Amino acid sequence: MDLPRFSLQGKVALVTGGSRGIGEAIAVEFAKAGADIAVTSRKLPELERVAGEVRKLGRKALAVETHVGRLDQIEKCIATVMAEFGKIDILVNNAGTSQAIPALDYTERAWDAVMNLNLKGLFFMSQGVARIMKEKGGGSIINIASVSGIKSEVPVIAYSVSKAGVIMATKSMAIEWGQYHIRVNGIAPGPVVTRLYDSHFINMTEEQIEKAHEAVGKRLPARHVGQPYEIADAAIYLASDASSFMTGHTMVVDGGTLL
Ligand SMILES: NC(=O)c1ccc[n+]([C@@H]2O[C@H](COP(=O)([O-])OP(=O)(O)OC[C@H]3O[C@@H](n4cnc5c(N)ncnc54)[C@H](OP(=O)(O)O)[C@@H]3O)[C@@H](O)[C@H]2O)c1
Repeated sequence: MDLPRFSLQGKVALVTGGSRGIGEAIAVEFAKAGADIAVTSRKLPELERVAGEVRKLGRKALAVETHVGRLDQIEKCIATVMAEFGKIDILVNNAGTSQAIPALDYTERAWDAVMNLNLKGLFFMSQGVARIMKEKGGGSIINIASVSGIKSEVPVIAYSVSKAGVIMATKSMAIEWGQYHIRVNGIAPGPVVTRLYDSHFINMTEEQIEKAHEAVGKRLPARHVGQPYEIADAAIYLASDASSFMTGHTMVVDGGTLL
């Protein structure tokens, strides 16, 4: 990349939920921008595939199996990345989950599963990495929120509440950790074609899902549903020195959904 302030050359990035969808695109696009990459999720074979893509681009890659909803696994993950790379310059808190259940039927188990990953895991992963960034002189943390954290949607109450929490956590971490040269920003995507997004199209064939993407896209000002690389492009800006005066902000990248 010949835009020096957007370069990630010499940086190490940890991307949670990096085995597919938006996280995979962020890992690969970050590698193209020059970063070495650690990816985490719960399934090692899928992570190894992404790590292989990163290595093909000439960058170092590490696959770390981690359940981000479990604090002991977060600690182990950070220690493994540090043993391999010796620093973490960029953290992308991307792992997320949703359970579509009407609010009257929501169970404690479903609520906890969403909150433990989307909010608690995101915070404690950030805290663990921020302690390292503080020692090393700074870094950039990027939290993947959602337009659902700004405008409520049905029937995903726990998801919407968790993502609203992510937007506030972004501001709170930014204000506390700015003194350590740690910037914390978020991205709130609109509809982006991934497994998570397609899980909302229940009992549909691939062809019907394709048609549904087109129908959703036609209603958006951008005239298409998002692709994972379009979120990765925004993440490169937030990870790089190009956004050095931005912290505590959540960028809406939604094709105009909220309009
Ligand atoms: N796609 C959209 O339209 C959209 C819109 C707004 C916001 N977002 C947000 O974007 C982020 C990525 O979503 P996506 O659409 O790319 O979803 P996805 O394709 O389902 O990918 C989710 C990733 O998170 C990992 N993951 C899930 N549970 C995990 C856990 N407990 N611990 C560690 N990793 C876990 C998954 O791997 P394993 O299952 O193998 O662990 C996978 O790598 C999420 O935070 C989501 O809320 C997506």
